Amino acid sequence: MLENKLWINNLAELSREEEKISKKKAIILFTDNLLNDKTPGTFEALKFIHKFLFEDIYEFAGKIRDVNLAKHNFRFASLVYLNVALKNIENMPQSTFNEIIEKYVEMNIAHPFCEGNGRSMRIWLDHILKVELGKVVDWSKVDKEDYLLAMGRSPIKDLEIKELLNKSLTERIDDREVFIKGIDNSYYYEGYYTYKAEEL
Ligand SMILES: Nc1ncnc2c1ncn2[C@@H]1O[C@H](COP(=O)(O)OP(=O)(O)O)[C@@H](O)[C@H]1O
Ligand SMILES: [Mg+2]
Repeated sequence: MLENKLWINNLAELSREEEKISKKKAIILFTDNLLNDKTPGTFEALKFIHKFLFEDIYEFAGKIRDVNLAKHNFRFASLVYLNVALKNIENMPQSTFNEIIEKYVEMNIAHPFCEGNGRSMRIWLDHILKVELGKVVDWSKVDKEDYLLAMGRSPIKDLEIKELLNKSLTERIDDREVFIKGIDNSYYYEGYYTYKAEEL
């Protein structure tokens, strides 16, 4: 259970509130074009996104984690290498779709924050795709389970995640619904509920 600013100590309730607040913030990020002056593909941009989404919820918003992290037996970048890894990732090329996804996969392996990496990184990815290719991922077309399986496989082989996201690319870069689906929390538990934009 993560320490939070909301005085919530129930996991289900925290997940619900966390999703609701971060989605509201994501809508502001989108409608006020707050990423327009950020350089796509930089850690600075990702840090800004994470801080903006989670600053009302977690003390660690926008701060690099100080613990080692693992999910389903996969260990994300060790703290010892994290800063160097972030520098290297930032310098990776991003002029083609494949290069962009390869960069995204590496950033996921780095997993710089304690929590909220998936959501902030999907916005970071869309920002790169939008500026470099004039496209974004239509997250409503991406099956969550397929996505999580493909991300789980991605450190070994990135073909699945490339195919999955490639077939969901859209030129509707200013469509709020397309954007907001990307910010669903991928944490599943019984009774888990995802807010729709109009409910916020
Ligand atoms: N086994 C795995 N190996 C690598 N990456 C994973 C694995 N499982 C999940 N992921 C990635 O980690 C993200 C979840 O990270 P997390 O920090 O909990 O973010 P969030 O809270 O926004 O979902 C998923 O969206 C996915 O991209
Ligand atoms: Mg999570």
